Amino acid sequence: MDCILALDQGTTSSRALLFDGGGAVRGVAQKEFTQHFPRPGWVEHDPLEIWATQLEVAREVLARAGNPRVAAIGITNQRETTVLWDRATGEPLANAIVWQDRRTTGICDELRAQGLANFFQERTGLVLDAYFSGTKLQWLLDTLPGARERAARGELAFGTIDTWLAWKLTGAHVTDPSNASRTLLFNIHEGRWDEELLGALRIPAEVLPRVVDSSGVVGATDLLGGRIPVAGIAGDQQAATFGQACLAPGMAKNTYGTGCFLLLNTGDRPTTSRNRLLTTPLWKLGDRTSYALEGSVFMAGAAVQWLRDGLGIIRTSAEVEALARTVPGNEGVYHVPAFVGLGAPFWDPSARGTFFGLTRGTHKGHIARAVLESIAYQAVEVIRAMEADSGIQLQELRVDGGASRNDLLMQFQADLLGAAVVRPEITETTALGAAYLAGLAVGFWEDSGQIALNWRPGTRFEPSMDARERSALLDGWHRAVERSRGWLD
Ligand code: G3P
Repeated sequence: MDCILALDQGTTSSRALLFDGGGAVRGVAQKEFTQHFPRPGWVEHDPLEIWATQLEVAREVLARAGNPRVAAIGITNQRETTVLWDRATGEPLANAIVWQDRRTTGICDELRAQGLANFFQERTGLVLDAYFSGTKLQWLLDTLPGARERAARGELAFGTIDTWLAWKLTGAHVTDPSNASRTLLFNIHEGRWDEELLGALRIPAEVLPRVVDSSGVVGATDLLGGRIPVAGIAGDQQAATFGQACLAPGMAKNTYGTGCFLLLNTGDRPTTSRNRLLTTPLWKLGDRTSYALEGSVFMAGAAVQWLRDGLGIIRTSAEVEALARTVPGNEGVYHVPAFVGLGAPFWDPSARGTFFGLTRGTHKGHIARAVLESIAYQAVEVIRAMEADSGIQLQELRVDGGASRNDLLMQFQADLLGAAVVRPEITETTALGAAYLAGLAVGFWEDSGQIALNWRPGTRFEPSMDARERSALLDGWHRAVERSRGWLD
């Protein structure tokens, strides 16, 4: 059996999956790794542990499958997480600064105070936020003695996790546009690193990887038995969009993980957001780059974990559905999960988590329901902003991620959206997307038409709520969001 190996390096675990020609999963191995929280708001990973766990799971999945012939490797990764290493020794200079890390909020405030927010948005499609890699790299170059001078002499290499893994596997120093575009350093209109952006963040160009196509051979590795080409690279949310076969403009997916990441394919040209969404390249295939509008919601499944770990009102995340079903509706209770502020489209770090509408009759069923519903409200908020920015009206939302298994949530999502929500048969869409990108490069799959045919709907949720009820519910949510904002001001 020939297959494609996908390396899915996520925020909390390293995974390796094998796919066959039909896009079916032939094996999975997964290993969690250490999260470091050296100070409040800081989040770090050890790049060597990331590499060790990634290699271990890749070897494990291959061994368990009887060491099949692997036609190519695709890499997909937690995005924005920043690594800086010595080109000569391969040793990282410090722990990786994770996308969730807020230590560079002050740098972003300063850039905003200099009036640079529009400049960055126009060229990169991003908002000035500590989420992205550029200010993290700036912080490393400012903080590590001699680092900026060494970087300028070409002695150091910067990379997001895709780059780090590709380097470890093949020795090539590369990234693709879906990852490069999350750095605040990449001009998404011209598809290249931008000298003026580099100047604003004081980053020497010598430290940067070469930007290559998302589908194409970048090198080969001998570390997994035989010589295997590394042939696909994409950030995890863009890879999931590919795995969901959202290949045409107007198609969108939502991944319900720790947070929610919604991406709407807007076609061959970047669409500038007037509603505080991100404009982001999806993938570059040959000379064609596809773009998306993206809304990143910080708390989704993590709010359910909070019910489990923080409040202890459920024992497993899956129990939330049964508890929420003990009430017929929200009965006026709303939750705003602004535990770490609000992401898109609000970008309000001063908001905090709240419940509204509690009465003496409120019980844990209402709390569970309000938490679940808050996930769907946040997604609707992002989708309405996407529709306003793009002029596209969403017909169908393709879903994946842990909380997409929750039927109550998916039905409520369809009801609130007034559009169908479709959970595919294969929900391992992130790894599948990376596998597709790699497989296309080596002729394992012929073209994207074949990929679209491989996508099959699993469960379809049709909207059944009447417009008046929908609008009353959304009205309550909007009032709750407004009251949660500015709490820290
Ligand atoms: O932008 C951050 C995102 O890529 C992280 O995804 O799935 O590792 O939480 P995940």
